[in-house]
Amino acid sequence: MKLLATLLVASAMLLGVSMASISSSYSYYRLPTALRPKKYDLRVLTHLENPEELRFEGNVKILIEVLENTKNITLHAKNLTIDEALITLKDTSSADKKNCISSTEVNSQHDFYVMQTCNELLAGEVYELSMPFSADLNRQLEGYYRSSYLDPVANVTRWLSITQFEPASARLAFPCFDEPNFKAPFVVTLGYHKKYTGLSNMPVKEIKNNDQIADYIWCEFLESVPMSTYLIAYSVNDFAHKPSTLPNSTLFRTWARPNAIDQCDYASGFGPKVLQYYEDLFGIKFPLPKIDQIAIPDFSAGAMENWGLVTYREIALLYSAAHSSLVDKQRVASIIAHELAHQWFGNLVTMKWWTDLWLNEGFATYVASLGVENINPEWHALEQESLGNLLTIFRRDALESSHPISRPIEMVSEISESFDQISYQKGSTVLRMMHMFLGDESFRAGLQKYLLKYSYGNAEQDNLWESLTEAAHKYRALPKSYDIKSIMDSWTLQTGYPIINVTRNYEQGTAKLTQERYLLNTQIARAARGGCWWVPLSYATQGEQDFNNTAPKAWMECDKNGGVLPKTITDLPGNDQWVIFNTQLSTLYKVNYDERNWKLLIETLTNGEFERIHVINRAQLIDDALYLAWTGEQDYEIAMRLVEYLQREREYLPWKSAFENLKRIKNIIRQTPNYEFFKRYMQKLIAPIYLHLNGLNDTFSGIEQQEQVLLKTMVGNWACQYQVEDCIEVAQSYYRAWRAEPKPDEKNPVPINLRPTVYCTSIRQGSDSDWQFLWTRYKNSNVAAEKRTILTSLGCSREVWLLQRYLELTFDPKEGIRRQDSMWAFQAIAYNEIGFHLAREYFMNNVDFIYKFYHPITKDMSRLLPPFSEQTFLESDFEDFKNFVTANRGSLKGLEQAIQQTLETMLTNVQWKQRNYRQLSRSIETMI
Ligand code: BES
Ligand code: ZN
Repeated sequence: MKLLATLLVASAMLLGVSMASISSSYSYYRLPTALRPKKYDLRVLTHLENPEELRFEGNVKILIEVLENTKNITLHAKNLTIDEALITLKDTSSADKKNCISSTEVNSQHDFYVMQTCNELLAGEVYELSMPFSADLNRQLEGYYRSSYLDPVANVTRWLSITQFEPASARLAFPCFDEPNFKAPFVVTLGYHKKYTGLSNMPVKEIKNNDQIADYIWCEFLESVPMSTYLIAYSVNDFAHKPSTLPNSTLFRTWARPNAIDQCDYASGFGPKVLQYYEDLFGIKFPLPKIDQIAIPDFSAGAMENWGLVTYREIALLYSAAHSSLVDKQRVASIIAHELAHQWFGNLVTMKWWTDLWLNEGFATYVASLGVENINPEWHALEQESLGNLLTIFRRDALESSHPISRPIEMVSEISESFDQISYQKGSTVLRMMHMFLGDESFRAGLQKYLLKYSYGNAEQDNLWESLTEAAHKYRALPKSYDIKSIMDSWTLQTGYPIINVTRNYEQGTAKLTQERYLLNTQIARAARGGCWWVPLSYATQGEQDFNNTAPKAWMECDKNGGVLPKTITDLPGNDQWVIFNTQLSTLYKVNYDERNWKLLIETLTNGEFERIHVINRAQLIDDALYLAWTGEQDYEIAMRLVEYLQREREYLPWKSAFENLKRIKNIIRQTPNYEFFKRYMQKLIAPIYLHLNGLNDTFSGIEQQEQVLLKTMVGNWACQYQVEDCIEVAQSYYRAWRAEPKPDEKNPVPINLRPTVYCTSIRQGSDSDWQFLWTRYKNSNVAAEKRTILTSLGCSREVWLLQRYLELTFDPKEGIRRQDSMWAFQAIAYNEIGFHLAREYFMNNVDFIYKFYHPITKDMSRLLPPFSEQTFLESDFEDFKNFVTANRGSLKGLEQAIQQTLETMLTNVQWKQRNYRQLSRSIETMI
């Protein structure tokens, strides 16, 4: 399949090139390769003074090198007004060799702007193309767009402009060769009223007065290094900034609206530290003279790594000690670390085409966790994020509708869809796997080699495999007969991950291992699953608890045709000792043991000696047991008995793994008559840890281990959902104390880390006026993290009318919820068991409106779907949704992938209900 796709692409490319030189009706999705931009000179004048007329006009001069003779210039432009009479074309080698544009046409499918030239452009020549353009600053959060905030002192709205170009929106801001492999240096010059500040990728070179418009200036920035168009950024704003002070570091500034500047301290301290760490890790200095990070009030993604001018949502950059929780703070750290990792992986070395987007996003995700781990080792971010990614991918990639990490891309909508868990979390997981099987030294050496070799250029995954293989052989980290490509192709070109069946022979001390793809949909015959993965095998035994050794003791290989080769492991202990494969979950696979081995494991877990098993492997055992029970390969009774050991567990990761799984069961079973048993089981499970952590009492200042803060936050939340001990009372008393404050916007007695639980519980149990009180706090809050917590909690009400009102105001821009935040409100309502039915009704009745509301960022709309997939388990509801999807294709365009996953998840829930509902109910009934 892959080969076929590659061939098709290759031949189409050939076709594209030759077509470019003969015809203008060019319909291939990539730009022709006859021309190459050598340099851009971009001037943009921005008008922000009149809110009725927020617009820009500009001119771009592109130096174009001709690689093959051609009679047209084809580049990208979208939604721009271009006066074609003003386009000029000059041969730079001789001033008197005139050329011109004879006609133009637009291909709106691929956003091409095609200019026929008066004379043929000849290979070897260099032309200067000059094009004027103008447009409104749009409201769509991409291209060059407007944002605003309320200045509370003057009580007026202030406007600013900002760009978001990735993946394919530079073409909305200026005509350009908008593909990642067309790198060129940029000189940006911004024109604006002198009361504003202009920012771009590079530092200011000089500022001049604008001779034509009074009080306007021209701000020219230094020429950049060669870069891809999607990384260009500029902004005109009246923000305040905070310089960083780390010695010997790049000039580093953090920007925000003036009223939020005091929330920039944390980011301005953390940013330069992590930048320095990367300089050491990669052995390459940050190549630009400065870096700015800026918090934008209206922003669609979480953050964007523009080279030298990194943009963020406010919640992703700003931190307030008085309002942000530890989770919020760690999120800020992790996002900054991610975007700064891109300055190397993505900006310095860029993927050739979006097919290899994971080289950007998977790397940034993995390297960010190394960065945070290095700067705040006490957080154990590496373990936490690694497990979090694994848990996500175990679920997502067990769907038949998943896709390989590396995938063919032909349309802009497909590029956007690729920013998904597969590129980020699976990409990061397979990099971690390599790091663990190669060891630190050769992994780093391989990365350095790769970065150096492709600096200011583009690469594809095979280039990375090559650098890593060289390093691995040099450091003897891999047998000479192995190469990284054979191993890694099985992970990046193939969808899914394996389950390894371990059958031990206790007399002989051996185990036989086989593998097949793990799928949640049990209607698909096992034999049809196919697939083979190269698996580094590590294991620990009860006698030799060698969990720190993640180096492979053996490999599971595949034959030349990708067929499975079973593997026998020898030297295992006898029948009184367990074996655990995959130490620290270094590799993405599930394990099923024979019954005896499971029994031995459960014995160790439940007899109080569970700490002999590495904490990540405890999380693994929980996850595996519950998955196998879900798909019918394990008895639920055994799985739930295993889970019961948690009554003694005091660490965060195993609990996290358990809750992630139990949440799925909860979402179904709480809509059924047998919920009572599940509820009692949960109460029994949670009570000991709740009490151990001192309930909801404010013990945070005394907690030394940071993970215990996260544990307490998470357990508190579940305890109140399940009415454990005094949880609800304590939560409500905190809330009452807050309501009694004379100035609740200034003083909030609720412990920060418990606020999500306290608010949600109080709204769930509370009155209209409790809801109104919180909504007022939302409107008055100046802190994005606090606002998000409130939005999520407002969805916890059990009053149908309040939920209905909340739904409607969520999609009413006048009400003050920004579009970028609307999905949090919607999700909160839709995950509430009462709100679910309202939200479903609302979504199905208003899908056209919702589609337009989010247009063109369909990715945001796709975030409304998980509550439906996770709570639908009746065949009839599943069929309804299927019909709804078919009838509304037009309003779900660009969400195809998300819809496929939604439907498949619903189907697996239907299967679960049919197969497991009774069995689970019966087995927990005996345990409570
Ligand atoms: N390059 C992305 C931003 C992006 C996402 C652009 C989607 C276009 C489409 C950026 O580096 C990123 O990954 N941002 C994440 C946050 C990150 C910490 C995981 C995001 O926006 O969710
Ligand atoms: Zn990223």
